[in-house]
Amino acid sequence: MIIRKFDSRAELDFYAAQYFVDTITTKPTATLGLATGSTPIGIYEKMVERYRSGEVSFAQITTFNLDEYVGLQPENEQSYAYFMKHHLFGHIDLPADRAFLPNGMATDLAAECSRYDAMLAAQPIDVQLLGIGHNGHIGFNEPDRTLHGGTHVVGLKRETLEANARFFASMDEVPKQAITMGVGSILKAKTIMLVGKGADKAEIMKQALTGPITTDCPASLLQTHANVLVLLDQEAGRYL
Ligand code: GLP
Repeated sequence: MIIRKFDSRAELDFYAAQYFVDTITTKPTATLGLATGSTPIGIYEKMVERYRSGEVSFAQITTFNLDEYVGLQPENEQSYAYFMKHHLFGHIDLPADRAFLPNGMATDLAAECSRYDAMLAAQPIDVQLLGIGHNGHIGFNEPDRTLHGGTHVVGLKRETLEANARFFASMDEVPKQAITMGVGSILKAKTIMLVGKGADKAEIMKQALTGPITTDCPASLLQTHANVLVLLDQEAGRYL
């Protein structure tokens, strides 16, 4: 595991975007695992800048997002499909038919999970971008006695609903379920880039990266992966 701390978020975002640009330059058909939340927004901004300056093309890559809420249309501004379009996909030359998210509107959610796993198996992820929840969740893999390997439907924990309520008009509107890639699928990525920003992530970053490996903190399972790159701002990295 490599841990890098940055003096500013702008430097972190630049470094992460450069990492993706280098990945795509080396392998134009790379498969990227993408994430939502506030953490990756600056990284996506920098990737769009690099695209606009003509330094990189996303035309041949494939992307898989970690998760999506159940019951939100892609046009809903709170859906992760909308988030990705707004922050990245709408601004680059990635073909829409190679940018995958779980379909939270599927009538058969179990079949949708199997479909997603089959696609992931066919196109293994080269670099998986991850943020982290305050309770150590990755994607929407919440702390529990057991964790799922593959893509599955998950009920969101109260603390996650509360953390995500800021994006909705009221707590009642926050979807109670999501589809998420499993920890097993995440750990199959060749490289994992875990990003943390802000003082509120300092404690969970320390616990996840140096504490016991436990399903109580899903991000702690990243300690078992051979190729994890952790990018932190000074606040998130203060205990590391
Ligand atoms: C959501 C997402 C996670 C993300 C987490 C943290 O729960 N499903 O993928 O890591 O939020 O979000 P933020 O980056 O806004 O702190």
